[in-house]
Amino acid sequence: MTQHNRRTFLNSTFIAASGVGMTAGMASSAQPSLAQPSVDQKTVAQRSERIPKAKKEWPIWDETEETALVNVLNSGTWGRTSGGPRCAEFEVAFAKRHQAKYCVLTSSGTTALLTAIGALEIGPGDEVILPPYTFVASFNVITNSYALPVFVDTDLDTFQIDPTKIEPAVTPATRLVLPVHIGGYSADMDAINTIAKKHALSVIEDACQAPLAEWRGTPVGTQGIGGCFSFQASKNLNSGEGGAITTNDEKFFHQCFNFHTPGGGKPAASAGRGSNYRITEFQAALLLAQYARFEKQSAERNTNGNYLTQLLQEIPGIAPAKLTTGCTRSAYHLYMFRYDPKHFAGMPRAKFLAELGRLGVGASSGYGPLHTTPHVLAIASNPHYNRIYGKARMADWLEKNQCPINDRLCQEAVWFSQYALLGDRSRMDRIADAIRELQKRSS
Ligand SMILES: Cc1ncc(COP(=O)(O)O)c(C=O)c1O
Repeated sequence: MTQHNRRTFLNSTFIAASGVGMTAGMASSAQPSLAQPSVDQKTVAQRSERIPKAKKEWPIWDETEETALVNVLNSGTWGRTSGGPRCAEFEVAFAKRHQAKYCVLTSSGTTALLTAIGALEIGPGDEVILPPYTFVASFNVITNSYALPVFVDTDLDTFQIDPTKIEPAVTPATRLVLPVHIGGYSADMDAINTIAKKHALSVIEDACQAPLAEWRGTPVGTQGIGGCFSFQASKNLNSGEGGAITTNDEKFFHQCFNFHTPGGGKPAASAGRGSNYRITEFQAALLLAQYARFEKQSAERNTNGNYLTQLLQEIPGIAPAKLTTGCTRSAYHLYMFRYDPKHFAGMPRAKFLAELGRLGVGASSGYGPLHTTPHVLAIASNPHYNRIYGKARMADWLEKNQCPINDRLCQEAVWFSQYALLGDRSRMDRIADAIRELQKRSS
């Protein structure tokens, strides 16, 4: 299975939603015959607009964004170095809402993670634990720092890193745990922090998909030393590209600020490294405008996501991702469930997705197994890795790089996008209706 990036996800969502291409390709499959639309199928597909709509449903903007961007243009202050009042304003608002003392905006979620890892001086010789069920950027920020990524398998029910498998993966070289709140559902932060404390490890949350997700009633982002968020175009809060680091640790905040801007150094030492990972005033202006809608949209995703779970968990063969005990709110950047073909007369997942598309519901198969992609495996033959860690250690890394539960999950998962969860709950009823309809027709 190929690695599923954001672009292919959006494409397949669109293709499925628009009912072209994908369904044509799938029709030749020797699976239960669904080629002739039944009366019910027509009813569901024609009764109202597609989910997500065939017309692009995301991003959402109006003249607020237009005015905000033009105001930046006319102000002549386009970047942080020349003042950047909008960056500072958004940092204060985002930190406050996430109950963090500090926030540093960055040019992307990737550079937020790079900054946080750099600020902690994690580098060659250090091991970093991460889950394989994530976007490739979570891995890239570790290898760009020449640290050794150690994949810990996924929990099948929650789709999050399996906390029971973290401690066995800890070695004397482990410096950091990088849990990813995948889909915007929180990883088990109590278990992770207990292990981290016992072994004196740092924890940075990859919260790129999880603004306003909550762990025991507190927004994620300060459960470890820092949390990293993404404002890339597909994200719940969108400035095209953009990112943020939240923290309650003053020293870490200064280290991050210094790392993300050339010539940093006051008041904490910059340890001789750093880069330019700054955001612009244009992005901050977009963020401020989008932020005005964000609370309501987040509440809608939360209500609709929880409601959809109530509906889907009643359907045999559909297992919605469970919230970890302690996750009191999901950001629902994705709505995720596992699909079991046995309850759909053996209909393969690809066909299920195509047929959902025909019924007006766009869905995706989500990530492929990241830890086995050529991109990831290449570090075993990378000359720098072999020099830093030695050939024998890299061969051992390759041998131990097994995540069988994640492999299974990647075969079974189905995703809906965050914007499918916006709107009223009748959209969730339609999604559940479409799945029930496929089950009925395949029985
Ligand atoms: C889990 C995760 N980590 C990191 C990133 C990187 O964020 P960005 O695309 O803003 O660099 C993303 C964004 O897609 C993500 O989903």
